[in-house]
Amino acid sequence: MIIQVEGLVKDYGSFRAVDTISFTVEEGEIFGIVGPNGAGKTTTVECLIGLRKPTAGRVSVLGMDPQEDGYALRERIGVQLQTSTLPSRMKVGEALSFFASFYEKAVPSLESLLEQVGLAEKKNRYFQGLSGGEKQRLFIALALVNDPQVIFLDELTTGLDPRGRRHMWSLVEDLKKQGKTILLTTHFMEEIQRLADRVAILSGGKILAMGTPQELIAAYGGTPRLILHLRPGEDPERLLPGKAWQKVSHEDGGPLKAILPLKDMREAAQVMHQLLATDMDFQALELQQPSMEDVYLNLTGKPLEVENSHA
Ligand SMILES: Nc1ncnc2c1ncn2[C@@H]1O[C@H](COP(=O)(O)OP(=O)(O)OP(=O)(O)O)[C@@H](O)[C@H]1O
Ligand SMILES: [Mg+2]
Repeated sequence: MIIQVEGLVKDYGSFRAVDTISFTVEEGEIFGIVGPNGAGKTTTVECLIGLRKPTAGRVSVLGMDPQEDGYALRERIGVQLQTSTLPSRMKVGEALSFFASFYEKAVPSLESLLEQVGLAEKKNRYFQGLSGGEKQRLFIALALVNDPQVIFLDELTTGLDPRGRRHMWSLVEDLKKQGKTILLTTHFMEEIQRLADRVAILSGGKILAMGTPQELIAAYGGTPRLILHLRPGEDPERLLPGKAWQKVSHEDGGPLKAILPLKDMREAAQVMHQLLATDMDFQALELQQPSMEDVYLNLTGKPLEVENSHA
């Protein structure tokens, strides 16, 4: 067991940010923590890396207590924090050597590390001259500079464009292949579904559910569904009466959407068959499998922000 959290509580004054959570992360696993803003994700990470002292409970990383063995632990972990910054006039290459100098052990080549995160060309660029996404990549590189065994990534891909995000995903997959253990937090369900071996859904400081994405989807994702994008005035009830259509009208008065929860894929095929036999003129037809997005929605009762929903 690489990470062990037992009954972790963290209070800020009288406010309980993390409320008695427990989980473990095994060697070589990617463990994801997802949850809305203020759920306690960053606080949890900070307790694990020794930046904050737990109010109660037990935390251990690589068999060490982050509070007691902070110095030894920091040699062996890599951390990318959600809110990091560097002096504006520090160059990319300088930042790497500077960070590398803190550690007894560093990666064999800082050059190839820069290449790994796609910053090879920016080695002599000042921090202030980097784009948001490039800064993010630099912080990943800095988290990897000591060739850590355990890596903490707090919102790895926030602020990255879809291409940058995919790049980071393959970087994380590479790290996993190298046998690293990774704890990451994110708001992107697509990211968690692709990367995480196991996931904890955190909300209001509590873990609402935990398991592999497949387990969570099976337990909380709901059923598959058919979505019809209709032409104005069309009504699926007219053609297929007696089905539990949920109708959604757009605010702009645009075409109506009709959603039909399905028992299984067999029913999906039947309904599609019936639909095609009618004269209904629909704009688009979607067959949606339940996803982590649905798990999140069903558990937290909050839809993800629109900008997050389709990365
Ligand atoms: N230093 C602090 N003092 C007081 N309250 C804090 C402090 N840091 C965080 N909090 C509060 O604790 C709660 C959890 O914060 P945390 O940063 O862990 O959430 P998060 O899940 O990382 O959120 P986000 O998705 O926005 O990054 C929030 O309500 C936050 O306002
Ligand atoms: Mg956070």
